[in-house]
Amino acid sequence: MKIDILLGLQWGDEGKGKIVDALSHEYEVVARFQGGPNAGHTIEFNNQKHVLHLIPSGIFHEGKINVIGNGVVLDPVVFRKEVDDLGIGVEKVRERLVISFKAHLILPTHKMLDAASESSLGTSKIGSTLRGIGPAYTDKASRSGLRVGDILKKDFREIYEVHTTEHKKRLGDFDSGLNLAELEAEWFDAIEFLRQFTMVNSEYLIDRSLSEGKRVLAEGAQGTMLDIDFGTYPFVTSSNTVAAGACTGLGIAPGRTGEVFGIFKAYCTRVGSGPFPTELNDEDGQKMRDRGNEYGSTTGRPRRCGWLDLPALKYSIMVNGVTQLFMMKADVLSGFDEIKVCTAYSVAGKEVTELPYCLSEIDKIIYKSLPGWNCEITGCKKWDELPSGLSSYIEFIEHETGVPVTIVSVGPDRSATVYR
Ligand code: GDP
Ligand code: IMO
Ligand code: MG
Repeated sequence: MKIDILLGLQWGDEGKGKIVDALSHEYEVVARFQGGPNAGHTIEFNNQKHVLHLIPSGIFHEGKINVIGNGVVLDPVVFRKEVDDLGIGVEKVRERLVISFKAHLILPTHKMLDAASESSLGTSKIGSTLRGIGPAYTDKASRSGLRVGDILKKDFREIYEVHTTEHKKRLGDFDSGLNLAELEAEWFDAIEFLRQFTMVNSEYLIDRSLSEGKRVLAEGAQGTMLDIDFGTYPFVTSSNTVAAGACTGLGIAPGRTGEVFGIFKAYCTRVGSGPFPTELNDEDGQKMRDRGNEYGSTTGRPRRCGWLDLPALKYSIMVNGVTQLFMMKADVLSGFDEIKVCTAYSVAGKEVTELPYCLSEIDKIIYKSLPGWNCEITGCKKWDELPSGLSSYIEFIEHETGVPVTIVSVGPDRSATVYR
């Protein structure tokens, strides 16, 4: 058995949570491989909406094992709140969830350091979610991080003090507006809560599952254009969101990866700062935001919206080795007379189809226009019920990318999913 990987191809919020949940019945194990509470993965069913930040999106399914992998950075406070908010009871979550000993912990001081770092950037802020992600990964890389497994050590409190003393030095007299004593009290309470969950060397669990013929799905967070290496650096997150991140974030050998499901919106969005070539600051952009309810699942910030960017999509398909494409939020484009797609950029007066090193070098976007479809599609259940305008749009994307589109999502609910 090989592990399938599902990840975002754009700037995050493509709809990964919805699809992981919808596909979970086909898998025995669902494993998050990177990111942390910066993620917000929305799942809707039975007229209820759930937003997950740390817990894998297979959690609502009986009998499935959900893994928080070593590549994730975990804030115990967010974790506890999330378990409480799931509405299925702690006992069920305990049965369905395991956490890697090797996942790194986000400390209260990491959040303060995040705020300090953003504040020092003045007008060139990353637009971070301020969840402490960057500082936690920085400590991991500088070999001074605290890991989930450390909470079992007798001298955990002392180790914590050593770490935070160093953080406090770095913070100096920066005022984050956060009360450290209060945050720490809450954090240590949440550590006690965390102790009741199963902690494992999850690489063994995944290896055993695959060897026993079980199906494992790796769930990515963020998106390829936010990858620390391949995204729009420095306006990125602090982990590898690409398929290779599933190998390091779960301990899977590259040869054991199977399908790579690439999730993309029928248009583009971005939350936070940084280049966004096809961004629309006009009525069309506002229409996408309104129809798509494009406001961040984690921070509530309005998402920037724009047309589909094919050079960026092809780049993401390339670095991830995408084998199947899932098109999300196709319903949001219903009612646009024409659908535009960026097919190339103009850089210094020359037409290019590769992403330039600096996206700020792009001086013009070259669009192709396709006919829209003027009907609501959320009720479509079968592929052949999709309107011809949408079918042509899909065919165009398949032709350009060479990758089949095998799922079209036509609404936020689990059931609003059309399989080919
Ligand atoms: P994720 O971070 O990739 O899991 O995506 P988010 O949950 O942050 O954002 C996706 C948003 O779009 C959520 O509010 C979903 O409920 C919603 N959504 C997902 N698929 C569709 C779809 O096909 N149509 C519409 N209209 N909304 C969708
Ligand atoms: P999901 O998994 C969209 C963005 C932030 C910011 C940048 C760095 O829901 O798709 P960070 O908090 O990591 O320091 O922020 O990355 N960002 C996301 N944007 N979806 C996400 O996750 C994101 N996680 C981080 O807005 O621009
Ligand atoms: Mg999200």
